[in-house]
Parts: sequence; C-alpha cells; structure tokens
Amino acid sequence: MRCAGWVALALLLVPAGSGADYGRPESQTVYRYLGVKWCVTCHSRASDNPRLSMYHSWEDSAHARAWDDLPDGDKDNPLCLRCHTTGYGMARRPDVADAELRGVQCEACHGPGSHYFTWRVMKDRDRATANGLWRPNREVCVKCHR
Ligand code: HEC
Ligand code: HEC
Ligand code: HEC
Ligand code: HEC
Repeated sequence: MRCAGWVALALLLVPAGSGADYGRPESQTVYRYLGVKWCVTCHSRASDNPRLSMYHSWEDSAHARAWDDLPDGDKDNPLCLRCHTTGYGMARRPDVADAELRGVQCEACHGPGSHYFTWRVMKDRDRATANGLWRPNREVCVKCHR
C-alpha cells in the first residue's frame, strides 16, 4: 500500500505510453509484456538453483505449448488467444511482436516484466514486487482455469 500514492502521482506526471524509460525501474507506472526471450537470458542457466534454471522446466510444460496446441483454424482466434497466449490484449513493449508472446509464458503468471527484468531489481524481491512482479496465487490461475 506504501506505493499507492506514488502510483497515483506518477500517473499524473507520466504520459501513458512514453517509451524512453523501459528497463529503468520505478521510473514509470505502465508495465508492459516482454516475452520469454528476455527471461531466458538469466533463468535458463545450468544451475542447481531452481530460481535461475526455471526456464528448463517451463519449456517442457503444457503452458509452453499452449499456442502450438491450438487447431490451425484457431491460431488467430481472439476467443482462444486470451488463454493460450501471454498478456493478450494488454500492453506490450512496442518492440515485442505478438508472435513472441505465444503460449502461457512466465509473464502470464509473474506479471509483465518491463520494469522488474533488470538484475538490479530482480535480485531484490521487494523491489521486484514494487515493479510489477506477481507472486502467483490461485487468482492468477483461475483467469484461465476454472
Ligand atoms: C538480468 C537477469 C534477469 C532477467 C532478465 C530476469 N530475471 Fe528473474 N531473477 C533474476 C535474479 C538474479 C533473481 C533472484 C534469484 C535468487 O534469489 O536466487 C530472479 C528472481 C525471479 C523470480 C523469483 C522472485 C521471488 O523472489 O519469488 C521470478 C518469479 C522471476 N525472477 C521471474 C522473471 C521473469 C518472468 C522474467 C522475464 C520477464 C525475469 N525474471 C527476467 C534475474 C533475472
Ligand atoms: C494465461 C492463461 C493461463 C494461466 C494464467 C494459467 N494457465 Fe495453466 N494452462 C493454460 C492452458 C491454455 C493450458 C493447456 C495448454 C496445452 O495443453 O496446450 C494449461 C495447462 C495447465 C496444466 C496442464 C494440464 C494438463 O492437462 O496437462 C496445469 C497443471 C496448469 N495449467 C496449471 C496452472 C496453474 C497452477 C496456474 C496458476 C499458477 C496456471 N495453470 C495458470 C492456461 C493458463
Ligand atoms: C478461459 C480460458 C480458455 C479459453 C478462452 C480457451 N482455452 Fe483452451 N484451454 C484452457 C485451459 C486452462 C486448458 C487446459 C485444460 C486442462 O488440461 O485442464 C486448455 C486446453 C486446450 C486444449 C488441449 C490441449 C492439449 O493438447 O491437451 C485445446 C486443443 C484447446 N484448449 C483449444 C482451445 C480453443 C480452440 C479455444 C478457442 C475456441 C480455447 N481453447 C479457448 C483455457 C482456455
Ligand atoms: C502457470 C504459471 C507460471 C508460469 C507460466 C511460470 N511460473 Fe514461475 N512460478 C509459478 C508459481 C505458482 C510459483 C511458486 C510461487 C510461490 O512459491 O509463491 C513460481 C515460482 C517461480 C520462481 C521462484 C522459484 C523458487 O524456488 O523460489 C521463479 C524464479 C520463477 N517462478 C520463474 C519463472 C520463469 C522464468 C518462468 C518462465 C520461463 C516461469 N516462472 C513461468 C507460476 C508460474
């Protein structure tokens, strides 16, 4: 709740959609989707630390295949993309193509990464949370699962 006032203030000061500050934490309040290719850079290590090797379990999961598994006729169907892609209809960074958000990627459960994905922010859980990282709970799952 500490941040609510700042968010309200920042919304007054920062024009929506201004793009210059991506990756600069706490500088903007509009979170945008990046796609898994960004998360991969740090989370696909050959490491015993699940926190840094998480990509490997995800890439073999049903979530990673969610778009591929759609029948050909439904691969562009908005009724399906809502649950079979990531952040469908939500703000994505302008340099991110829709194709990069296929499947149920990290950000579908952990929130849009534009402001938490830098090492400086990520290594500090509180700071990451303040910059849009979600701790996934049941509410996140039932957006797509009933
Ligand atoms: C620049 C490197 C880097 C990038 C890029 C990155 N992360 Fe991280 N992430 C980290 C580090 C470092 C940690 C902390 C690891 C630890 O505590 O052992 C972390 C922790 C996390 C955690 C655990 C948070 C917690 O404390 O419960 C989640 C979830 C996460 N990252 C998701 C993502 C997602 C999703 C993306 C892509 C949008 C992403 N990360 C991109 C480096 C990165
Ligand atoms: C953006 C939508 C979305 C979200 C959010 C989501 N899921 Fe899914 N989930 C799917 C879709 C779509 C599939 C089916 C993918 C496929 O098989 O092609 C799936 C598949 C699964 C499966 C595999 C089921 C099987 O039959 O193999 C499990 C388990 C699962 N999800 C659990 C979860 C949990 C737990 C959460 C919350 C932490 C969650 N999901 C969040 C959309 C979502
Ligand atoms: C409200 C969210 C939601 C919507 C909308 C949705 N799906 Fe799914 N879909 C899921 C979830 C969740 C699963 C995984 C179910 C499970 O295994 O329990 C799934 C599973 C599937 C699977 C099975 C994948 C496999 O091979 O196991 C197919 C195929 C599929 N959906 C096609 C579609 C199509 C086609 C549409 C649009 C007409 C659609 N879905 C719309 C959430 C959704
Ligand atoms: C279907 C939802 C879902 C998807 C997709 C997903 N995660 Fe998670 N992730 C979770 C849940 C649930 C937890 C456990 C949260 C907790 O313990 O509070 C978690 C935990 C984590 C953790 C912390 C692990 C630990 O041991 O503390 C990291 C790091 C992480 N995820 C990174 C990722 C990355 C990177 C991706 C994509 C490659 C990803 N996740 C995809 C739901 C998801």
